[in-house]
Amino acid sequence: MSMEPTMVKVRVPAKVNLGLAVGPVVSGYHQIATVFQAVGLYDELVAELAEPGVCELLGDLPDGVTVGEDNLAIRAARLLMARFEPTSGVRLRLRKRIPVAGGMAGGSADAAAALLACSVLWDLDTDPDDLLMYGAQLGSDVPFALMGGAALGTDRGNRLAPALSRGHYHWVLVFGAEGGLSTPEVYRRFDELNPTPASPSVPTDLLEALTSGDPHAVAEQLFNDLQPAAISLQPKLGETLEAGRAAGALAGIVSGSGPTTAFLAASESAALDVARQLKAEGHQVVRVQAPVAGAKIIG
Ligand code: C5P
Repeated sequence: MSMEPTMVKVRVPAKVNLGLAVGPVVSGYHQIATVFQAVGLYDELVAELAEPGVCELLGDLPDGVTVGEDNLAIRAARLLMARFEPTSGVRLRLRKRIPVAGGMAGGSADAAAALLACSVLWDLDTDPDDLLMYGAQLGSDVPFALMGGAALGTDRGNRLAPALSRGHYHWVLVFGAEGGLSTPEVYRRFDELNPTPASPSVPTDLLEALTSGDPHAVAEQLFNDLQPAAISLQPKLGETLEAGRAAGALAGIVSGSGPTTAFLAASESAALDVARQLKAEGHQVVRVQAPVAGAKIIG
């Protein structure tokens, strides 16, 4: 009798880049040095056994998420299918809460969830390092969605080293009001604004601040080299950053390639105040804590 489960449910977090240094392009990708932090905003993916050869995605999905072969969760399942030739197929259901094209690695999170869910569903002989390697083939941010916590990412963001981190951080996220931003487009604008970027250096001051557990120290070190490019594509983001600071955040940054903005608060109650104020001004906000674990089986 088979001991394989017939269904696996996985929860996977979004990320913010606490620091993102962007350098020159090598083999089609920008060399970066970034500090990732996984935040408590999750997509959920359910993978169910299906007839042999089936690999499909169902679900009530937000605009901008296709269920076709270009979907990263489908591509993750297909990669494992091609590699391991499991005897059954898979049907995926996705519940999205991470904004689409929001700079929080939502698509990568779904790929990470599909890798984990399918490897358990099909009882594959994979260890965590194998999944990180398959993840890197799917997208630069997929390995971090598997790992979670806080990490230094180098190369194109896919080479990870866990970062020491103390304490809990309280963020207020503001979702873009003018639609998503395409990551390649933001990188292209970065190239126009920075024709000869220096090699990215590891943000050692930020890494040190993270070990202190003091949000004030971390707030002083937040930076994002893609921020001017994102603001140049959506100028209103500059106003949103101002609004967050005026509402009492210690600091605010564009998350990754945007347009989500992330505001670090001094405490949970300070985050409540910032969120309330920004909401009253008409922004779509969510409060999250960080760091949280990476992709995890929850059922
Ligand atoms: O790795 P991923 O498929 O998520 O990247 C999407 C696109 O973003 C790439 O095709 C590239 O245009 C851009 N990118 C980049 N440098 C990186 C990561 C992404 O130029 N380090």
